[in-house]
Amino acid sequence: MAHTPSNPDSRLLQGDVPRHIAIIMDGNGRWARERHLPRHAGHREGVKAVRRVVEACKLKGVEALTLFAFSSENWRRPQQEVGLLMELFLHTLKKEVNRLDRNGVRLRFIGERSAFPAKLQDLMAAAEAQTADNQELTLTVAANYGGRWDIGQACRRLAARVAAGELQAADIDEDALAAELSLADLPEPDLFVRTGGEQRISNYLLWQLAYTELYFTETLWPDFDAQAFEVALQSFSSRQRRFGRTGEQVEQLKGA
Ligand code: IPE
Ligand code: IPE
Ligand code: MG
Repeated sequence: MAHTPSNPDSRLLQGDVPRHIAIIMDGNGRWARERHLPRHAGHREGVKAVRRVVEACKLKGVEALTLFAFSSENWRRPQQEVGLLMELFLHTLKKEVNRLDRNGVRLRFIGERSAFPAKLQDLMAAAEAQTADNQELTLTVAANYGGRWDIGQACRRLAARVAAGELQAADIDEDALAAELSLADLPEPDLFVRTGGEQRISNYLLWQLAYTELYFTETLWPDFDAQAFEVALQSFSSRQRRFGRTGEQVEQLKGA
């Protein structure tokens, strides 16, 4: 129980505002299709929704926001869409980093970034370095990310430590594995939001979502605004998180 991010007692006693929100930003393509626009127009509009949600998280005092921008499976899309998405990432990063920095946002990326164009990798590293000391909000963008990849890379690192004689295989437990995952230094997500109506995880934060409250909305990502965000927060605050305990135990712990 030493590893705080997974310590359920501290999560039971936290307030109504999630410390960490993880979002699957889905529905850009359908938003565009409804308007007889190319899919790319939906992705571009989606950037505006990112700005709105970052702002809303800051206002609410949310500590961490993790956004799924590109999955390890999204390479299967038509080459043209993938290319345009890469251009949009590049363009958005160039344009937004200074603003995020001024607003105290620490920007980070998770996922296998070696697959991205070198120019994009450089910009990602520069953005992380520029914003590293900011403390208002940690904004993590999952790009070429997959939950299975994350668990796999954590296992690889543990195996390397065992091979180097730093760690005994018998000492590998949940905390040891969690400490090697991409979001090891953040509390686990309290609230998961998926826009666009699909009710699936799509290989997002598989390990970290074990006890996250799941919220699905039909709203397409480009339409997700401050009000839609508020509705998600209300849903979250109406839930009783039990982490295996009984409802009565939870009431007692909270009342204590
Ligand atoms: C999510 O929107 C954005 C990415 C996966 C990059 P989609 O592009 O999946 O939108 P739909 O699901 O086709 O509407
Ligand atoms: C999940 O959305 C990935 C991102 C939002 C980046 P998808 O639209 O790719 O998910 P599936 O394929 O419908 O499960
Ligand atoms: Mg989709």
